[in-house]
Amino acid sequence: MPRLFVTGGCGFIGSNFIRQLLNSDPNVHITNFDALTYAGNLANLADVANNPRYSFVKGDITNRADVMTALEENADGLIHFAAESHVDRSILDSGPFVRTNVIGTQVLLDAARAKKVKRYVQVSTDEVYGSLGATGLFTESTPLSPNSPYSASKAAADMLVMSYVHTFGMDAVITRCSNNYGPYHFPEKLIPLFITNLMNDRQVPVYGDGMQIRDWIYVTDHARGVEAAWRNGKHGEVYNFGGRCEMLNIRLTELLLELLGKPKSLIKYVQDRPGHDRRYAIDCSKAERELGWQPLVKFEVGLKDTIAWYQANQAWVNQVRSGEYLKYYETQYGTR
Ligand code: NAD
Ligand code: DAU
Repeated sequence: MPRLFVTGGCGFIGSNFIRQLLNSDPNVHITNFDALTYAGNLANLADVANNPRYSFVKGDITNRADVMTALEENADGLIHFAAESHVDRSILDSGPFVRTNVIGTQVLLDAARAKKVKRYVQVSTDEVYGSLGATGLFTESTPLSPNSPYSASKAAADMLVMSYVHTFGMDAVITRCSNNYGPYHFPEKLIPLFITNLMNDRQVPVYGDGMQIRDWIYVTDHARGVEAAWRNGKHGEVYNFGGRCEMLNIRLTELLLELLGKPKSLIKYVQDRPGHDRRYAIDCSKAERELGWQPLVKFEVGLKDTIAWYQANQAWVNQVRSGEYLKYYETQYGTR
């Protein structure tokens, strides 16, 4: 009966991970520890809220006392998703990124040691590798070369994890995934922002020349990868996950316009993101070889399903866009 402590489970990827694992493993018990920042939404897991194998604890990973109270002794895994995750916000103010992504990770590592957690999984990102030229792929041995305050804070956290493996013999693995998309994605990131803007005939802001490349993966494929790394990853190893699906931002924008039946006049070129990484692309052959993992969802299918999800969940979109969802906790649990 595996017992997992998941951080950041009310965000985009964490909520998809929890739902998927509760459904696929009838024995697993999950505690979801989340601070409910602007990106954390209890509605993302409303369908599992009453599952007896699931519990929610509101808490901040930078608060050692909160973490030590919630984390049980000898848990089978600590899966660490919680983060400040949006690059543009890190450019406006890097403070919360250093606090949550670096200090929060340090607090969790110490707590995991103290409570003898059996395996620690650090959910990291391909952005720690920096930016690629026209050719080549990120492998697990690509040197870390982060370019934004967000990716620098994630790289610092990865380094801390590796230091605990080396110094204390901690059983930890790190996962580094490319750009996710799918249901419950906060509409500040490209795909959900563009879908929800286009649904309302609003323009979509393409940064710079739109010729940047991202490697897209459906969120449930990433979630399966994190699960595989927890169950079957080797002590101290890093695993890359990607969708083998590179696409220019402008091509993706045109595809979204096409699928939503909207005119090209809704494209608005805007000032580029400072320090904008040009290209990300992942070599995920190690995960395929060693974990028996593969991305399963084809981009055309995943993208259509994602659009359909946003169309069917207009109330969720409206709540998120208006900030109304932030009040939900108070009605359910009292003062936030
Ligand atoms: P998200 O922003 O949607 O969710 C983050 C969650 O963490 C929210 O529920 C938030 O409330 C919680 N959180 C933030 N600060 C916290 C704190 N101090 N204490 C407790 N909880 C806190 O993020 P996401 O897109 O789901 O990303 C999850 C993880 O995956 C992050 O670590 C991110 O770096 C990594 N990642 C994301 C992507 C992607 O494409 N989104 C790709 C690769 C890796
Ligand atoms: O690669 C993994 C990373 O992917 C994760 O670690 C991050 O948490 C996640 O936010 C994501 O980072 P990106 O910066 O790649 O994602 P974003 O959706 O913000 O932007 C995708 C691309 O689209 C990027 O080249 C910037 C561009 N963009 C983005 C927005 C929000 C635009 O052109 N216009 C926009 O309005």
